[in-house]
Amino acid sequence: MERSKTLAALFIHTLVLVSPLLVMATDPDPLQDFCVADLNGVPSVNGYPCKPPSSAGDEFLFSSRATMGGDPTSNPNGSNVTELDVTHWPGVNTLGMSMNRVDFAPGGTNPPHIHPRATEVGLVTRGERHHRQPRIREPFNIGKEEASMVVSFNSQNPGIVFVPLTMFGSSPPIPTPVLVKALRVDAQVVDLIKSKFTGGY
Ligand code: GLV
Ligand code: MN
Repeated sequence: MERSKTLAALFIHTLVLVSPLLVMATDPDPLQDFCVADLNGVPSVNGYPCKPPSSAGDEFLFSSRATMGGDPTSNPNGSNVTELDVTHWPGVNTLGMSMNRVDFAPGGTNPPHIHPRATEVGLVTRGERHHRQPRIREPFNIGKEEASMVVSFNSQNPGIVFVPLTMFGSSPPIPTPVLVKALRVDAQVVDLIKSKFTGGY
């Protein structure tokens, strides 16, 4: 009896200790109606300081044509991301949400990536696309036509970490012998892939 009481108390203590960590895994709820980002300020806890409400203008609006100026998807990834996080759309500051529009050429991808500070959902608005929904995302246009999607995040500043770039193009680099062992390939293979990422994305 005593033992089960001790175990129950331990369980409750553990829950109490862990719960603040769970709560902090997403952007906090907003404490005010709006807080237009002062992008000249220093970001803290994933948000920017507020501009005085009297000087807030059209920061809640954003308009763009993703195909403006040539073909934005003619690059090695065959894709173009129009970002609408807080740095591009200051009105979403502290509101815990943001969006992106992604356009894909046939066979294009937004390379495998994670968003360290958000969960993402996406809607294909044009074409067909392969997209898994685990932690690592890898949207890929499987169609013969261009494809587009709109994605949304539960953070104004979701961040993005590209897996290939992080493994093969980071600075300082991951030493080749580490990648040889981890990927079970020869050093020449690793060095060839590294050479593709010297300029980033
Ligand atoms: C698409 O996956 C994106 O994060 O923009
Ligand atoms: Mn994504």
